[in-house]
Amino acid sequence: MAGKEALIRANRAKNDEFYTQLVDIEKELRRYKDQFRGKVVFCNCDDPYESNFFKYFAMNFNHLGLKKLITTCYSGSPIAGEQLSPLGIEWLPEDTPPQPAYKVEIVEVPDADGDGAFDLSDVEHLIRQEPNVLTLLDGDGDFRSPECIALLGEADVVVTNPPFSLFREYVAQLVEHDKLFLILGNQNAITYSEIFKLIKEDRVWLGYDNGGTKWFRVPEDYNITTESRIKVEDGIKYFSMGNINWFTNLDTTKRHEGITLYKRYTPSEFPHYDNYDAIEVSRYADTPYDFEGNMGVPITFLDKYNPEQFGILGWTRGRDEFEVRPTKRYVNARQVNPDGTESNGGKVNTGPTLLVNDRPPKCTFYVADNADGYLVQTYMRIIVRNRALGKASV
Ligand SMILES: C[S@@+](CC[C@H](N)C(=O)[O-])C[C@H]1O[C@@H](n2cnc3c(N)ncnc32)[C@H](O)[C@@H]1O
Repeated sequence: MAGKEALIRANRAKNDEFYTQLVDIEKELRRYKDQFRGKVVFCNCDDPYESNFFKYFAMNFNHLGLKKLITTCYSGSPIAGEQLSPLGIEWLPEDTPPQPAYKVEIVEVPDADGDGAFDLSDVEHLIRQEPNVLTLLDGDGDFRSPECIALLGEADVVVTNPPFSLFREYVAQLVEHDKLFLILGNQNAITYSEIFKLIKEDRVWLGYDNGGTKWFRVPEDYNITTESRIKVEDGIKYFSMGNINWFTNLDTTKRHEGITLYKRYTPSEFPHYDNYDAIEVSRYADTPYDFEGNMGVPITFLDKYNPEQFGILGWTRGRDEFEVRPTKRYVNARQVNPDGTESNGGKVNTGPTLLVNDRPPKCTFYVADNADGYLVQTYMRIIVRNRALGKASV
């Protein structure tokens, strides 16, 4: 691998090293409790010494009625072997290599210390006393390695926060192996065509606790350029990220509820795009209840999406198989910058565009030979239809 490429990869790998807090895991996981009974749970991007996913399932093993918990650790992690140890377990077998990849398999958590509760001290006791609970892997613990895929075969549900840089591949593997899953990912992943396809086909949807800001524990040398996104508590560094979503194919009550529609359609409030056959709905909460045709909604709509209420036709990105085709292409388009200067307006042909009569103040807009006004472009939109109004055979 060329030096530059190796460096890019190493940086990407380093950026993947952020750890989910127990509070965020508990907040989401409590909504699915009944769906874990009798199940084999696999956390396949989780060093048991540092992952709160392992901690959550180990602590709740009996409460959830799990059949088995499997956790694998990745030795390619830039911080493997220098764990942050939220579990407080500072112990590995003596013959452990410097960058170990190991797995933990738990089939029961007895009350080893006899205190009447099942907690982490019981799990630690189990790991120390039972030689088959923690074993070294042959390979590096990559979720794509044959031994991890064999473990995946055993699993009913996969739950983790996987490396965001490998999100597409990660989800593709889960789908290929027909697994149930609940995983964290960046909201942006909705705009990956592989993921959008699954959402459109109703094979993946969003969980409960999406959006907002979540704090993740990061190694000391994690590079964060924005001061307001760093906090240090008890000597531990945290990094805040917005727009983190849960992606799942476990059933949720939310996806059967949908949005309460209260707005009546008016052409002035919901203008028709100039270049797509759809109206603009800039806030999903405002979706009109009585509009039969195509509506362009922001991707945050998916957080409230009920597939019985709406059908997804596609999106507006100017490319690929999900594209709802534009009805118009602009000729000789120019971009007008806030300072009045003009530049090449090629981009105006990639997204949904609204035609306005008055020159928009202080923002970028476009003009074109075949447009009778000023063109204002919205962000990418998902095009949906209301199924109750009869035309949603999507
Ligand atoms: C975003 S972190 C989350 C860690 C942990 N799941 C959590 O939520 O706290 C992603 C983890 O995946 C690991 N990882 C990166 N590439 C991997 C791979 N190919 N196979 C398995 N794990 C990998 C990283 O080392 C990192 O610990």
